[in-house]
Amino acid sequence: MAESTNVTVRTPEEAVARIAYLASDVIVSVQPSLASDSDFSSHLKQLVSQKTQSLVANTSDAVPEIQSVRHNNDPLLSVFAPIRAGRLVSVTTTSAVLLPSIAHLYKLAALPVVLHVALAPKSFPDYSAITSIRNSGWTFLQSESVQEAQDMALTAHALAIRSGKGVIHFFDPTAGADATVSAEDAAVVREILNLDNVRRFQSAPLSGSNIYANDGRIAIVSDQPEPLTSGSRQDHVVQSSEAETTPSTNATSHASSQSSQQSVTSSPPSVSTVTTIEPAALFVSSEDIYKYVNSIWAQLNQLAGRQYHAFEWSGPANAENCIFLFGSDSALFSDAISHAQSSDEFANAGVLTSRLYRPWLGAKLIEAIPKSVKRVAVLEQVSRKTTKWGPLLIDVLTSVKSGFGGVETIVGHQLGYISKGTVGQALRGIFQNLTSEKPIQNLEVGERESPEQTSEYVLEKPKLETAYTKILDQLFGDRIFIANSLEAENAGVSNTISASPEYGFGSLLARKERKQKFVAEVKEAAGSGRFLTEVPKRSLAKWVSAAEDPKKAEAAADEVISKLTVDNSRLSKTLLENKPFFRKQSLWLVGSDAWSYDLGNSGVHHVLASGENVNLLIIDSTPYSERTAADANRRKKDIGLYAMNFGNAYVASTAVYSSYTQVLQAMDEADKFNGPSIVLAYLPYFGEHDSPLTVLQETKKAVDLGYWPLYRWNPENEKKGEPNFSLDSERIKKELKQFLDRDNQLTQLMRRDPLFGAVLSEDFGTEIRAQQKRKAKDAYNQLLEGLFGAPLTILFGSDGGNAQSLAKRLGNRGRARGLKTTVMAMEDYPVEDLPTEENIVFITATAGQGEFPQNAKPLWDAIKDSTELDLASVNYSVMALGDSHYWPRKEDKVYYNKPGKDLDRVLANFGAKRLADIGLGDDQDPDGYQTGYQAWEPKLWEALGVANVDGLPEEPPPITNEDIKIASNYLRGTIVEGLNDPTTGAISAADQQLTKFHGTYMQDDRDVRDERKAMGLEPAYSFMIRCRLAGGVSTSKQWIQMDDISTELGNETMKLTTRQTFQFHGVVKGKLKPAMQAINRALMTTIAACGDVNRNVMCSPLPSQSKYHREVYAVSQKISDHLLPSTSAYHEIWLTDDDNKKTQVAGDAIQDFEPLYGPTYLPRKFKISIGIPPHNDVDVYAHDIGLIAIKGEDGHLSGFNLLAGGGMGATHNNKKTYPQTGRMLGYAKTADVHIACEKVMLVQRDFGDRKNRKHARLKYTIDDMGVDVFRSKVEELWGQQFQPARAFHFESNIDTLGWTKDETGMNHFTFFIENGRIEDTADFPMKTGLREIAKVHKGEFRLTANQHLILSNVADEDLDAMKSLMAKYKLDNVQFSGLRQSSSACVAFPTCGLAMAESERYLPVLISKLEGCLEENGLRQDSIVMRMTGCPNGCARPWLAEVAFVGKAFGAYNMYLGGGYHGQRLNKLYRSSIKEAEILEIMKGLLKRYAAERDSSEHFGDWCIRAGVINETRGGQDFHEGVAEEESDEE
Ligand SMILES: Cc1cc2nc3c(=O)[nH]c(=O)nc-3n(C[C@H](O)[C@H](O)[C@H](O)COP(=O)(O)O)c2cc1C
Ligand code: SF4
Repeated sequence: MAESTNVTVRTPEEAVARIAYLASDVIVSVQPSLASDSDFSSHLKQLVSQKTQSLVANTSDAVPEIQSVRHNNDPLLSVFAPIRAGRLVSVTTTSAVLLPSIAHLYKLAALPVVLHVALAPKSFPDYSAITSIRNSGWTFLQSESVQEAQDMALTAHALAIRSGKGVIHFFDPTAGADATVSAEDAAVVREILNLDNVRRFQSAPLSGSNIYANDGRIAIVSDQPEPLTSGSRQDHVVQSSEAETTPSTNATSHASSQSSQQSVTSSPPSVSTVTTIEPAALFVSSEDIYKYVNSIWAQLNQLAGRQYHAFEWSGPANAENCIFLFGSDSALFSDAISHAQSSDEFANAGVLTSRLYRPWLGAKLIEAIPKSVKRVAVLEQVSRKTTKWGPLLIDVLTSVKSGFGGVETIVGHQLGYISKGTVGQALRGIFQNLTSEKPIQNLEVGERESPEQTSEYVLEKPKLETAYTKILDQLFGDRIFIANSLEAENAGVSNTISASPEYGFGSLLARKERKQKFVAEVKEAAGSGRFLTEVPKRSLAKWVSAAEDPKKAEAAADEVISKLTVDNSRLSKTLLENKPFFRKQSLWLVGSDAWSYDLGNSGVHHVLASGENVNLLIIDSTPYSERTAADANRRKKDIGLYAMNFGNAYVASTAVYSSYTQVLQAMDEADKFNGPSIVLAYLPYFGEHDSPLTVLQETKKAVDLGYWPLYRWNPENEKKGEPNFSLDSERIKKELKQFLDRDNQLTQLMRRDPLFGAVLSEDFGTEIRAQQKRKAKDAYNQLLEGLFGAPLTILFGSDGGNAQSLAKRLGNRGRARGLKTTVMAMEDYPVEDLPTEENIVFITATAGQGEFPQNAKPLWDAIKDSTELDLASVNYSVMALGDSHYWPRKEDKVYYNKPGKDLDRVLANFGAKRLADIGLGDDQDPDGYQTGYQAWEPKLWEALGVANVDGLPEEPPPITNEDIKIASNYLRGTIVEGLNDPTTGAISAADQQLTKFHGTYMQDDRDVRDERKAMGLEPAYSFMIRCRLAGGVSTSKQWIQMDDISTELGNETMKLTTRQTFQFHGVVKGKLKPAMQAINRALMTTIAACGDVNRNVMCSPLPSQSKYHREVYAVSQKISDHLLPSTSAYHEIWLTDDDNKKTQVAGDAIQDFEPLYGPTYLPRKFKISIGIPPHNDVDVYAHDIGLIAIKGEDGHLSGFNLLAGGGMGATHNNKKTYPQTGRMLGYAKTADVHIACEKVMLVQRDFGDRKNRKHARLKYTIDDMGVDVFRSKVEELWGQQFQPARAFHFESNIDTLGWTKDETGMNHFTFFIENGRIEDTADFPMKTGLREIAKVHKGEFRLTANQHLILSNVADEDLDAMKSLMAKYKLDNVQFSGLRQSSSACVAFPTCGLAMAESERYLPVLISKLEGCLEENGLRQDSIVMRMTGCPNGCARPWLAEVAFVGKAFGAYNMYLGGGYHGQRLNKLYRSSIKEAEILEIMKGLLKRYAAERDSSEHFGDWCIRAGVINETRGGQDFHEGVAEEESDEE
């Protein structure tokens, strides 16, 4: 026992799990739910987590794959694919799944699968689960203790491999519960499994890939079996290495081996009814099985000293009586018998059990029974409902009677529940009966039921899945009736049953009947005299007469209910007990995707066929990323297609995380539809604790790629002349397309919406991607044909564009030197061409943490995984771009230029020859990556022999934004043409720059980028639209209009931005113009909301002083209007329809003129904001111009202090860039301030840096020029001088939530809108709520710069109504921690193209993780300004926060500390590139110290500086000085 471990095994499940783990490639773990473990799975998971190695698993780490499957999800379906692929599969399960899986069992019996079955229910197992499948062709082994469980588990695996047939190992899980054994001896296991046999099986996968493949038992259609065709099937029966007889492989031996006493495990193969030629199942006889199992047991005996037999006998060799037990308690019985008094009837009796239950070897039974035995009592723990004779009794009778003279009496008993206390009594009863003259057959022994009833699997509704039922509740309120809600008590009905569609359907029908009865009762009541008043009668009569018409009945319901309530008689009260019946009920059945498999599906069919008016909500939770694994092998039915084919049902396919509105619409339509309705609802998750972000991302992928299309199908529409089918997402899968095509619906759809046509007709797949690559490369090759000179292929990998532009320039230079140059992205290159290259160059950047850029990954994967690349004739060189300090820690130095270095090494390993040593570009070098590049390039030319070429043409300078602006003809470019191009969702690169000036950016959904790329699709392009909304004030009407736009044209959400305006995301190209027009109809515009112009002008919302606010707000509007660009391109492109297009002069553009901006506009964006002391809630220090409103002595606005040169954008690790706070230029009167602003802008226009966009903001112009020089230039243009700045005082830069009253007596409420995202979720229908409020609100909305929202100007008399409306939608909640209230995040993923890390979706999660710590330290109410952005562009103004996190790479952030509480001071870098665990650790430590050490009312940022945690930043120019982290320069 060389490898014995010290582990103690306590339960049979543990013993079994360990053996299964060692002996399988794949273990299908059947579980109650994915969230709760089975008695096996907890052990399996532990082994996996310890990375324990299996003895057989054919994976690199030898860890077997555990596939968890819900017990009601047709678990055995998961076995087919892996076993056919030559992987050893075992299943751990309870017996509950066996009978429902019977169809699979017949097929799987012919494959070497092992099923370990714990009999259920645990308290009192029912062995009928085994007897009822005894003839399915499997071998059955039984164990009765923990030790036996270990040994039989091992036997089962070894036997399956040797026989090539399925083995079921079953046991009572409580048997031998008290005994523990040592864990298996690995050497024994290895020896018995015989790894040669294992490898032979694994190396020859089966053909036939679907579960209809004909390799199961084949029906015998002819008496004369056909001779066996030799096929691959046979290869799978692995011969034992020992000298055993080979299995009988022909029909003759089969015939001879089948004796009357022996069943067979496998029928002979025969002519199949299936026409395709499938490999025939190998015939293995009972004798073969017996020989194999005996040899395994002989080995076990030899190695472990434990003996086993097909039938086990315990008792004296001269016993006359015995029991043959097929039930739980053999140990209990044996024990009682061995302790019997000699006077006991059962003294000296024997106990027989079967170890090898099938094949049933009658002859072996006879051998096992001592000759002395005269009487056998057969005890079967089988709940028999239909048959008179127990199955075991029949087995014993046929074997023993016919072949054994000694036995005179065989009596069958039904064994009930026996305990230690009752076993003696039971035995007495049995033996009295057995020895009586006329024994009674079928006598019941023991209790019918066990005292404690454990139900099998408890069905739990995962918490996540309540999302949809919550919506049902919201929609239908009182009217909803969910027939099978798990909370309901279903008397006496098991959970499994009550979750079936049949059960729910039955209860819905019952509910309908109840309603009929109720109507009759009401009718009777209406005529009775038992009311106290007369009133109810009339309304009851009215209701009864309308009862058949749901609409009328509904209309009459309120009256009836109120009259009955007033009447208050006993009869009224009785009727009111059934109040819901007065209304039209919305009847729902809620099911899971278990109904998509055969078992549940028949129930769905039943509902459809009934034509009844019931609604099914079917929640599918298979994650998109797992669907291929699951779908390929599992016969998951598309219920939607099935129902549509059926014809009479309303069908909708929905996904709450994709479109909340569509879910509402579908449920409402389903409710209204008079007939069966099926609403399919997608909610993918891997485990109960998945974050909503995971669910969201999985949903998006599924919907975007057409795996889970959103649609509605209403057969009633046809009657109205409308199409039945509405598609609510963009892409659909093939099957649905075929269905629609057949039904002519697709044509209708395309006609209605031609844009869909293009998308729908586009097929996709990985082959397409491969073809695309081929085409691109071939096109290049063609181009190069006929050219002379050596070939040079240049491949680049680039995320941000540096490597790409280097590659393109290198390509031009190569061409100029006469080389045949090809330049392409690494992902577009077909790897199979690599060995044929003569000269190849790779220029790759570094992304993530030492990873390849996105567009280089596929090629790198192909190269590194290749085993046979021969690059002996290839010359190559690598230029790598990276940043030696991106990951500042010493141990992270390996990430510096890692991809380039890896590639360089691997290519050399494949035999390629270096043209030039790897070049290393480093952002830290004086000229950034150019430094390294300039050293590398000449070496390359040298090696290629083209270093000294004369007459090289001059290189054209790269095209800049300035060129684009000039060439654009006042921002027109080719935008119109781009919008009209239906072949792509994108517009040209130059137009992308120009549309910014029109307030819209092109983006793509980064959540689905990779999936789409893999499918050969272009990225999911859409547009972000930003409104211009000076001062952030919107009327109620405008609010509703914005809400409409987001729902109808965008992604159903709105973002309230940090610059006080509305932003829409997800507007696809085709909807861009309609959206712009709708915004315009709302009397808003988007012009100059982005771009190199003055953007939206901000203004403090000041809810506490409305009059004063109005004065300041007017100035913000005035400045905004004054600085608007004049180009008419905006109007021309967006607001004119085809028929009223302006005629263009002489076919050319209209002559535009920009008096302020000129043709090239500003060098960079320009931002203005106005703060009203003491509120710096617009962060005046962060903008190009910050105005501080100064109140005159008369209480009115007198003028503004003007700050200039604030700005947030920076680039990581580029010290030439930094955030900056505005510098004071002085005071200007109200009447002059817009002119002062104009002049500041004009100085920037003329002096700003137009060469380097990273250095083009006003902050750098002022810093380079000096404040005084700058001021004088402004004053010179202005012709006036700034007055000395007036005194002012700021207190904070955050919002105060809740109600305030202003000086005029009007009320204002500040809502908390987390990170400005306005959206509906099942838990919080905020968007709907705000819309309802907007419908009645007489005042306005004010957007705050902290992304919150103020409901402004509610009169006292409207206050109560407003409060109750707010309460209804949970919008009155202001109970947030101070940290959360003071937090803000930019958008970042998935739409922002610059994002390096999550922000809006992550900050709330991070705060939740810190709130416990706040609580512990008494800081819950304290305001700490915390901000997060996805990149250093700084949209949420992180640099002014007391604590900030700025995205560095996915999941990693730079941390900054020490910003001023009212936005007056920049913070400073504290730690680089840290991840969540470290963030939490640092934050918790700091918060604890802050709570203990702070002075009274000292803010966190100030404390950080006083406590020496961080140095104070005095201005932008010292932002990079004295940072907390020492950078190590050692390599
Ligand atoms: C998110 C992110 C992660 C990075 N990670 C690394 C890294 O791990 N190692 C490294 O040497 N450079 C790293 N860099 C630096 C870039 O490789 C470098 O700036 C390069 O010039 C970018 O080239 P590109 O614009 O072609 O993508 C990273 C840059 C970014 C934006
Ligand atoms: S800060 Fe960066 S990531 Fe965030 S929205 Fe702005 S550009 Fe995008």
